[in-house]
Amino acid sequence: MKRIAVLTSGGDAQGMNAAIRAVVEQGLHHGLEVYGVNDGYRGLVEGDFRLLTVSDVHHRIKTGGTLLHSARFPEFKERIQQERAIDQLSKQNIEGLVVIGGDGSFGGALALTKLGFPAIGIPGTIDNDIPGTEYTIGFDSAVTVALDAIDKISDTASSHERTFVVEVMGRHAGDIAIWAGVAAGADAIIIPEEPYDMDEVVHRVRVGRRSGKDYSLIILAEGVDSVEDFVEKYKEKAPEQDVRGVALSHIQRGGSPTARDRVFATLMGAKSVDLLMEGQQGIYLGIVQEQLAIFDIVETLEKREHRVREDLFNLNQALTDREL
Ligand code: ADP
Ligand code: F6P
Repeated sequence: MKRIAVLTSGGDAQGMNAAIRAVVEQGLHHGLEVYGVNDGYRGLVEGDFRLLTVSDVHHRIKTGGTLLHSARFPEFKERIQQERAIDQLSKQNIEGLVVIGGDGSFGGALALTKLGFPAIGIPGTIDNDIPGTEYTIGFDSAVTVALDAIDKISDTASSHERTFVVEVMGRHAGDIAIWAGVAAGADAIIIPEEPYDMDEVVHRVRVGRRSGKDYSLIILAEGVDSVEDFVEKYKEKAPEQDVRGVALSHIQRGGSPTARDRVFATLMGAKSVDLLMEGQQGIYLGIVQEQLAIFDIVETLEKREHRVREDLFNLNQALTDREL
């Protein structure tokens, strides 16, 4: 193997650049040339490649976003586009591909592998929603950004003795809501994985107030409801409260990656190159109990589901569960 390529796909996540940097540096360590593919699978089909050097990547370990840009390109589900991509890779004598993205992006990696082109996935998404792995690159940074914002909101909430509903990202997963909610000491965490009862949410907040809290926080995962609709419904049940809602939105995908995201991105980026050189393909990397783990794309995505940390969710419920 002499040449490999790397792309980022789907929603960007802090730490993607750290993973790209590790792929390039480990590739160079093994005497490979590493090409970057611009704009995810769209760039792959268009042959939008560039040779990456140390000076392109070394300082990017600390930056958010992705230096290769990312794209959503649904056309890549079509076989004709996948064959075009392989033609483009072959024209450049590229023999292996690292895909940094979510499970959708791994579907593209799998399609290429099935057509005979070796591809390996690295989980990069703030949502933490990929089966098998306990951790995806960007999740820790997104939680840190969300928590910083929630702490700031709680300052003003306290001054005005308000209830704030804060909507966080996560698509269909409640991971960001659980981690940010537990870390912020939220009165209630609302996630798609657990049904909620609005009377019970209002009860928790009232109990908190009567126990001495001067503000209340409800952390709402975007996969449940929009913050506007939730606040409307909440106000009907709690007319005595001064309630505000805020959606943190894309701010959660920005900023410098945390140390944890940089370290795991580096581990997985370097390992992906080693695995391609060993002739492995159709797999993705992950982290289980702080260690690197390898998953078969088909087996894992088809047979396993992502599970949220129910123990943390239940702990938060228990901490705010008191009689009025
Ligand atoms: P994520 O990778 O974050 O889950 P998406 O689900 O939007 O994000 O997928 C990102 C991109 O991966 C899509 O826009 C498309 O280019 C590609 N992709 C998704 N699913 C498949 C699939 N089943 N086969 C081939 N490519 C896919
Ligand atoms: O998958 C990452 C994510 O930020 C989700 O949390 C969110 O639902 C979605 O992407 C937003 O996508 P877009 O950037 O296309 O609005």
